Amino acid sequence: MSTDKVLSIAQLRFGYTPTQTIIDIDRFEIAAGESVFLKGPSGSGKSTLLGLIGGVLTSQNGRLSICGTELTEVSSAQRDKLRADHLGIIFQQFNLLPYLGVIQNCILPCRFSARRRERAIKADGSVKASAKKLITGLGLSDDLLERRVGELSVGQQQRVAVARALIGGPDLIIADEPTSALDHSNRDRFIELLNHSREEFGSALLFVSHDQTLAAHFDRSVSLSDLNTMALA
Ligand SMILES: Nc1ncnc2c1ncn2[C@@H]1O[C@H](COP(=O)(O)OP(=O)(O)OP(=O)(O)O)[C@@H](O)[C@H]1O
Ligand SMILES: [Mg+2]
Repeated sequence: MSTDKVLSIAQLRFGYTPTQTIIDIDRFEIAAGESVFLKGPSGSGKSTLLGLIGGVLTSQNGRLSICGTELTEVSSAQRDKLRADHLGIIFQQFNLLPYLGVIQNCILPCRFSARRRERAIKADGSVKASAKKLITGLGLSDDLLERRVGELSVGQQQRVAVARALIGGPDLIIADEPTSALDHSNRDRFIELLNHSREEFGSALLFVSHDQTLAAHFDRSVSLSDLNTMALA
């Protein structure tokens, strides 16, 4: 397998029960630095697929490799390390820790990954400086940096979630409909900011949404039903 693929999926099958098939993908790959829009109606399995990539869910069938390492061939500790080092994740509900401050939320990935910590320090001198640069670059003002995220608006929380996914330059960012709460113009601006920031790091992006009008922002657009060869979804 060539290592210029940040994600490579083959014959991946998954259902929440033994008789169910939600995901049934023969082949799906993402190249380094590529941005991919994955569309599909509500309930079609987009979050399920991201759960499999992000490690929240596991499949007993098929192959899934991140940056050339096949996940089924390494220990669970190595799988966790691989994901912490190479994946930035923006969840549908953000999963920020409301009682922690903006900076503290943003630097969390660097507590779990030495690689990302070192990359952040190399880029900006310190992890905190890197977090500040990302957060202000995404349009949050300085006076919000020490706020608890529970006190921020939804749009502001989205920016913190993006900064957290970007810190330390992961090879692949997976984003689960992070724009669903935004109006049209804010949504476009948000995606432009996300794209601009990830291009600086050379990170690839897999962005899922049911909103087809967003496809123009990405290098490539894929429909989950086209990937899903046999699933009933
Ligand atoms: N934890 C779960 N247990 C059982 N079934 C689930 C679970 N999570 C999701 N499902 C089912 O799996 C299917 C796919 O759900 P999923 O959340 O992946 O869809 P989605 O494409 O992300 O939808 P949305 O656009 O609404 O976020 C749905 O039929 C859903 O009911
Ligand atoms: Mg979903």
